[in-house]
Amino acid sequence: MSGASRGGAVGPRGPGPGGPRVRLDAAALAVAATAGGCASWDEVRGAAAGCVACPELAATRNTVVVGDLPAGGLRPVRLVLVGEAPGADEDRVGRPFVGRAGRLLDELLAEVGLARAEIAVLNVLQCRPPGNRAPKPAEVARCRGWLVRKLDLLDPGLVCALGRTAAAWFLGSSVRLAAVRGRVHEVDGRRVVATYHPSAAIRFGPAGAPLAGLRADLALVAGVLDPAAG
Ligand code: URA
Repeated sequence: MSGASRGGAVGPRGPGPGGPRVRLDAAALAVAATAGGCASWDEVRGAAAGCVACPELAATRNTVVVGDLPAGGLRPVRLVLVGEAPGADEDRVGRPFVGRAGRLLDELLAEVGLARAEIAVLNVLQCRPPGNRAPKPAEVARCRGWLVRKLDLLDPGLVCALGRTAAAWFLGSSVRLAAVRGRVHEVDGRRVVATYHPSAAIRFGPAGAPLAGLRADLALVAGVLDPAAG
């Protein structure tokens, strides 16, 4: 994207609404300005496709994974899921949660009566970190403007943050998933449920706490969705 330059100047705000107190550098501020100027989802998609705010990610990615809209389009959007970052499958296909974690997510959503097609799916980062390493704080800060703008455009009734990176984006960097999951938070006027990432559910297995927690939290999400919207 043309407006997302590299640089070292700092700005005043951190990644998510309640996110880490990381100061935004010039690249993050440029992303925020470019994303904030996008009037539509298609404009975001077009501008994000050329983003070079994170030089390492821009050099190693195959696609910028902007996210999935519900099949019905932009509004009204009842639920947005926010994951961490694209993995290898997502980077290849250009869509979020299409790999093993995504298949588990789809199964768990179906269990609580939710279809992937009625949900918007985003990530904190739009580009795959090489080797699936964890996102760096500076990358989270630089991608912030895209996620802020997409949430503004979608204006969902509820957000479900999947995993610690997404939970920290909304609820603050010191967040512990076990402490914040299982209830609805109010963050800058948005309702947010934070829960385990499907990858953790896979890693810890069928008897692990993450799968049970994720399953219970998706049931909570389905139960508190606004039936009038979407
Ligand atoms: N993990 C994520 O956090 N997001 C994806 O899109 C895929 C795997």
